Amino acid sequence: MPAARLVLDSAFVVAPVPRRLFGSFVEHMGRCVYTGIYEPGHPQADEQGLRRDVMELVKEIGPTLVRYPGGNFVSNYRWEDGVGPKDQRPTRLDLAWHSVETNQFGLHDFDAWAKQVGTEPMMAVNLGTRGLQEACDLLEYTNHPGGTYWSDQRIANGAKDPFNYKLWCLGNEMDGPWQVGHKTAAEYGRLAAETGKAMRLIDSSIELVACGSSNSAMPTFGAWESTVLELTYNTVDYVSLHAYYEENDEDPLSFVSSAVNMDHFIENVIATADAVRARGRHTKRINLSFDEWNVWYQRRFGGDGPKPISAEWRKNPRLIEDEYNVTDAVVVGTFLNSLLRHGDRVTVACQAQLVNVIGLLRSEEGGEAWKQTIAYPFEQMRRLATGQIIQVVASGDVFDSNQFTDVPVVDATATYDQENGRAALFVANRSLDETATLDVDLRGLAVTAVLAATTLHAGEGQDRHTTNLEVHDAVRPRPFDDHVLDGGRLTAQLPPLSWSVFELELPRA
Ligand code: AHR
Repeated sequence: MPAARLVLDSAFVVAPVPRRLFGSFVEHMGRCVYTGIYEPGHPQADEQGLRRDVMELVKEIGPTLVRYPGGNFVSNYRWEDGVGPKDQRPTRLDLAWHSVETNQFGLHDFDAWAKQVGTEPMMAVNLGTRGLQEACDLLEYTNHPGGTYWSDQRIANGAKDPFNYKLWCLGNEMDGPWQVGHKTAAEYGRLAAETGKAMRLIDSSIELVACGSSNSAMPTFGAWESTVLELTYNTVDYVSLHAYYEENDEDPLSFVSSAVNMDHFIENVIATADAVRARGRHTKRINLSFDEWNVWYQRRFGGDGPKPISAEWRKNPRLIEDEYNVTDAVVVGTFLNSLLRHGDRVTVACQAQLVNVIGLLRSEEGGEAWKQTIAYPFEQMRRLATGQIIQVVASGDVFDSNQFTDVPVVDATATYDQENGRAALFVANRSLDETATLDVDLRGLAVTAVLAATTLHAGEGQDRHTTNLEVHDAVRPRPFDDHVLDGGRLTAQLPPLSWSVFELELPRA
């Protein structure tokens, strides 16, 4: 039976928990917006067409941030198409997803939705088919109080107060040959620097994200970040990372170890950003915005390449609606662990995407909405990771997969919130078939009780492939009793392939 020993001490502080780590993403893609968050005529729709049932689930999951409107979509989007009277909004071809975009949902609709669910918008500007001027127009529209052309347009369209968006992505995946308006690093770096500079002249309080690589397997990875940051260092605050992982049927062990790749990706981008810092004699640090991450079964989707010329142009087609299972939920737990353990530098992150499109949630047109398995680890960490991230000193059994060596069977992170008298421990057992023994030395924490413990795993009559498609709450965290707190020591028997969360009580400061 594999075993792991962890040592937690409140003195091992990594950083305050960056609450923007628990972001998600709404793209005009497939059914994320249309029949996802927006469906006029649905029995649960409000007067603006926003689905109340979906909003209730979003509020439970509680993303602290939502990136919008893309994704690849943004690189051929005219933001002005989505404002003003709906009957005057143009219908356009969306080249990114070979879809028909009606523009019935746009900026004000998104803002109303974000306010209702209580999340911070993270905006992206189009640096594919458009550039500096249109990005400035959009920022003037959203953030300038009034008395100018674009701010007065916003007021005329019903929003007296500026939206005051703080976080802005300078384009999306501009390194990717699939991107409409794809650029070299030098072309993009100059455009991002000048666009960011002009945007800051409109609102100096904004935070800017430069596009990093679309994934760490891109041939330009590393060189791209280096060139882009050389050109933008004084202008931007973050560099982005995107990563998607999937199970290859012959190699489930590599899939459950994917967060090792995520750890390396993050550490390599930090090293690259800090090398540019050293070369440029800069004092500030560039932080990381991991603004797309998830499990995505890309082999089923058939890739991002050009669509056959005869392919039909459709409104809100079903695109990449992956059904997530027990294994995916545990892997998503390890991705959250990877982000949290790097929370001193990864201070923004967005799970992609929120609804239907590789979604935390699923919804059917005219029908129900429900949480996918992967929503639960996200919701738990968003709710319980408060205060400080503390380093987990771990030892124990490891395994090798085809892609990774020395992978810890047990993967854990912890947070410590003295002010609220709470600590939290997030633990994945990656073993596909063995229970793992967990032994935690809580020496510096003075834990007085386990307030709650849950585990998500394949329960009675289920296996690791079970999803929530048929029974919408089949896979979810359940109360977990197989643990003992004895003095400063917590021991537990973690079920095979499981995600467990311990909420611990601390003496109040
Ligand atoms: O999230 C789906 C797509 O994945 C996004 O549009 C794009 O940025 C990435 O390649």
